[in-house]
Amino acid sequence: MIMYEQLAEIYDLINAGIPYDREYELLKLLTDKSKDKSLLDVGCGTGEHIHFFSPESYNIFGLDYSKGMLDIARAKNPHINFMHGDMSDFALDRKFSVVSCLGSALQYNLTLEDLERSIKNLLEHANDYVIFDVRYCIDKWIDGYVKDKTYENDSIIVRESWVSNRVDEVYSVWEPKFEVHNKLTGEDFEYMDYHKIRLFSINEIATILTTLGYSYELIDVSAAPVNDVRHTQFYFLIKK
Ligand SMILES: C[S@@+](CC[C@H](N)C(=O)[O-])C[C@H]1O[C@@H](n2cnc3c(N)ncnc32)[C@H](O)[C@@H]1O
Repeated sequence: MIMYEQLAEIYDLINAGIPYDREYELLKLLTDKSKDKSLLDVGCGTGEHIHFFSPESYNIFGLDYSKGMLDIARAKNPHINFMHGDMSDFALDRKFSVVSCLGSALQYNLTLEDLERSIKNLLEHANDYVIFDVRYCIDKWIDGYVKDKTYENDSIIVRESWVSNRVDEVYSVWEPKFEVHNKLTGEDFEYMDYHKIRLFSINEIATILTTLGYSYELIDVSAAPVNDVRHTQFYFLIKK
């Protein structure tokens, strides 16, 4: 349990640089245009984008494949409905004004077929808008990107280190090592993680959207920090 709570804290701590507030502003702008002010955030993680929405004025839902992430999201956001599901095949008996999929969650689809299935499913659940981002785009990919960063809050210090490797041209694989020092107990521990994502091109995504019969707008949210691989982030906005 202690380990679990520390992991939760680490996730949010290491992502603290992500300007969730600006991305939320965009989600709010889109949701405010709709009648029922409903939003489904797919691949919602710990719910950082959606916790800003006031439960009195909005109908907000989150869906994620990882039960661990959902546990954290639920604990932090008891007023939001979270569901377990896979973005490629979840089937809900309702639609939402806005369906979002941020933090590059779509890039966990490792084939173009899986990506198309997931995008189609997002579109099928939306009444008005779908918005998703591609943070690690093959068009602007930085090979061998090195991360070695230390984060700190009142209770822990975390060092995150990894090198991203391009595998078989279109995949990025990285195995982050987290070295954690608990300032309150003096305990140290470390763990490894594993990520494999697909580096899609803007053109591949555009082709999928065209095949599905949709046009899109590429949005610059200017949300990503400069001097970070994430400055290559693209946001696709689809109006239904
Ligand atoms: C990088 S995190 C982004 C989380 C959140 N959107 C954010 O921006 O903080 C990617 C999330 O996508 C989720 N995910 C990956 N594959 C998924 C799938 N097939 N269906 C649903 N969620 C998935 C992961 O569990 C993880 O929570």
